[in-house]
Amino acid sequence: MSYANSRIPQSAQQGVHEALAERVRKHLTEPFRKPFADYNRVALQTALAGWDGRAPLILDAGCGVGHSTIQIARAFPDHWVMGVDQSEDRLNRRKPYPEALLPKNMVFVRADLVDFWRLLDGAGLRLARHYLLYPNPWPKIGHLGRRWHAHPVFPWIPRLGGVLECRSNWSVYIEEFALALEIACGRRVIREAFTAEAPLTPFERKYRDSGQALYRLALDLSAADAGTKN
Ligand SMILES: C[S@@+](CC[C@H](N)C(=O)[O-])C[C@H]1O[C@@H](n2cnc3c(N)ncnc32)[C@H](O)[C@@H]1O
Repeated sequence: MSYANSRIPQSAQQGVHEALAERVRKHLTEPFRKPFADYNRVALQTALAGWDGRAPLILDAGCGVGHSTIQIARAFPDHWVMGVDQSEDRLNRRKPYPEALLPKNMVFVRADLVDFWRLLDGAGLRLARHYLLYPNPWPKIGHLGRRWHAHPVFPWIPRLGGVLECRSNWSVYIEEFALALEIACGRRVIREAFTAEAPLTPFERKYRDSGQALYRLALDLSAADAGTKN
């Protein structure tokens, strides 16, 4: 597929999945005890090694090649920014700046978010900001459980607190994520179509340049009693 010819996720699912609410409630009440992989424990240590223990934390979850992580670190120079992705290959791709010009208040680590989110929580850490930029949409109806808001790890996303932002080119994904957060937090979640004047990520740039509508949600969890799962 050539650049600027990207397609909106094709799905037989045109609206919110009929099983979403039940699935979210199940995950909020039932335990999720998948064992942690050692490499994710090491990844958390690596992610925090350069942190001074005081700077507010930002997570760029599924950061891909990390261009967003760099921009976020520039925008919040007094925060510690962690760019996490499961793909070593993407993390290692060339950055748009020479090494010497990269912000010092950030780190890239390879980890599986299914463990990383729970390890952050287990370490008693909370986020100031939390970005999920263009997560894999998993648009097939049967793949509902692979979308983050319908995955067993979902309760840890609001529990980590901070200003949570998710962006997608699939409106259904944002609508579902917003509904899942409303179920978890009991608060209205703002979602909207938006124009990416200055794209944060390569995917955002590609979708914008393909003329697609983009969608996002944002929720400030700092004052919320977020994540009801024990
Ligand atoms: C569609 S890409 C978006 C990347 C980037 N945020 C952007 O907008 O350019 C989704 C990213 O999520 C990462 N990802 C998917 N599942 C993950 C998981 N379980 N743990 C960590 N990263 C994951 C993928 O490796 C991929 O880089």
